Amino acid sequence: MVSNALVHGTNVLEGKGLDVTITNTKRDAWDTIGSLYWNAGYSGGPSPAGVAQYLQGVDSSTNLAVLGASTVELIRAAIDRGANVTVFEFAPRMCEQLATALGARRCRIVKQDITQPLMNADCGQADVVCADRLINRFTLEEANSAFTQVLRLLSDGGELRAAIRLGLYARDLPLIEEGRRRGTLHEFFDEQQGTIDYGMAGDILEQHIAPHGQIPQATLLEFYRRRGPEKRFAHADIVHCAESARDAGRRLSVEVIHDYVGAPDDTFYRFRAVAANATGERG
Ligand SMILES: C[S@@+](CC[C@H](N)C(=O)[O-])C[C@H]1O[C@@H](n2cnc3c(N)ncnc32)[C@H](O)[C@@H]1O
Repeated sequence: MVSNALVHGTNVLEGKGLDVTITNTKRDAWDTIGSLYWNAGYSGGPSPAGVAQYLQGVDSSTNLAVLGASTVELIRAAIDRGANVTVFEFAPRMCEQLATALGARRCRIVKQDITQPLMNADCGQADVVCADRLINRFTLEEANSAFTQVLRLLSDGGELRAAIRLGLYARDLPLIEEGRRRGTLHEFFDEQQGTIDYGMAGDILEQHIAPHGQIPQATLLEFYRRRGPEKRFAHADIVHCAESARDAGRRLSVEVIHDYVGAPDDTFYRFRAVAANATGERG
């Protein structure tokens, strides 16, 4: 990883060149909302206590990766601790707006879809990887790919720290209820797979999405419409996805599961990169 000390002038924007083509159309949702996600009286990221939980034990010797540019407060705090920070982000506008939001703070910002193969140079580099409710944005297939890429990114013994919401979101409930009432639920919610796609809910979405701070309603609707299918995960799904990942004789072991400070609906997982044949106890 590039050391902060070597980075002068502007933040380093990279990612197979910033002109790399990201084919994952979910990026459009995030480019639609951009910095409004953290600048308009709405916060989808960790609370200050959550930031501290992510950064436990992190100091200037830590190579830390954050998945998702929208997790700005965590990125700022990690840079302020002196950690060597790399952000992986698939939405080009998000990459640029993070660089602006960081001002004089320095890190690498790599344009990368984390469900797609990482550059070899990034493999084995991160001591800690942070992903705040990112896995909630994935289908089961995307989650499986992402856990494999995160395992590739981690150094031996490195940790993935991830807050994950288990089960349905509260905002799913009125949509599901209305879809049931109208007989259109199957158009946007696969009950068997637990996969929801707000973009397929038509005017039900418009009627039931609550304001998010001062984000303009039209932008908010576009954001949700473009997010694509997302699985609502059970704990067993998460453990299965993580424990199925394999890379170069290594696997992810579920290390500890905590409450997520300041977010009672979420669960905070810590996974460790270990030798595939290692036996371990769960805390
Ligand atoms: C971290 S997630 C969820 C929001 C989060 N709770 C936060 O802290 O802001 C959202 C961020 O991840 C990025 N993202 C979503 N899917 C991605 C993917 N497949 N690869 C890389 N970045 C992704 C989005 O563009 C956005 O910046």
